[in-house]
Amino acid sequence: MSTEKKRTRTKARAPRAKAAELAPASSTPVTFIVGTDTNIGKTWVTAALSRALMAAGQRVVAIKPVETGCGPTVSPDEDGAVIAAATGQSAPKAALIRLRRPVAAAWAAEEEHVTIEVAALAEQIRSLSKGADQALVELAGGLLSPLTWHEDTLDLAHQLDGRALVVTSDRLGSINHTLLTIKVLRAERIPVVGVVLSAPEVPDESTGSNAEAIHRLAGIDAIITVPRVAERDKASEAVKEVAGWLMD
Ligand SMILES: Nc1ncnc2c1ncn2[C@@H]1O[C@H](COP(=O)(O)OP(=O)(O)O)[C@@H](O)[C@H]1O
Ligand SMILES: [Mg+2]
Repeated sequence: MSTEKKRTRTKARAPRAKAAELAPASSTPVTFIVGTDTNIGKTWVTAALSRALMAAGQRVVAIKPVETGCGPTVSPDEDGAVIAAATGQSAPKAALIRLRRPVAAAWAAEEEHVTIEVAALAEQIRSLSKGADQALVELAGGLLSPLTWHEDTLDLAHQLDGRALVVTSDRLGSINHTLLTIKVLRAERIPVVGVVLSAPEVPDESTGSNAEAIHRLAGIDAIITVPRVAERDKASEAVKEVAGWLMD
């Protein structure tokens, strides 16, 4: 990244809105489902966790703010639709902003001449979360995936006074990716509610040992590894403990 770009980015970020000024203390807690990568299990965890929270008596709204790779009409396979189906919510039924090309939101939006306004997205999420006990917000890609050329999901997290649930994979490389994600969240003073490692389709030599390593290195106690399960009931059972972290 050039120095010029770095400067622009720093400048654009300086007047970040203070969450306390925007969200009243009594508003629904917002948990961001933050992946260390794409295709890592964020949607799976969001759907399973929604069901686990509802089983515990919580009213849940699950929201995908921006989704790329969408067709002209909403497909039931889209993340926004999958997580909405998990809660049975009346709205939203799909991602708030749906874009065609399966690339970073900033690119897809630019190509479609769509303006993504993080403040407007935050307001929409706040409004859709009213009356819920928990709002789960599945972020696109990884933590620093750009929503626009000067705002990313960290800005959204700040505006909503959110906390982060980190989703990663129980495979080689995850220790580094997870620690990087946690380091940025901590630097940004976004609380980390816990870490979920999703079992990879194909285990490797590291599978089974990554959670303990992340626990030792990041000092995080709220950390679990979930097995590979397709059945809805078993999936929500697997993340029951995570639901407990959110309700504490
Ligand atoms: N623990 C798991 N058990 C079964 N399938 C899983 C699990 N974690 C992820 N998957 C599957 O792996 C694929 C990628 O997961 P997904 O949640 O869509 O990732 P992301 O939202 O991070 O892109 C999906 O087909 C999903 O159903
Ligand atoms: Mg997803």
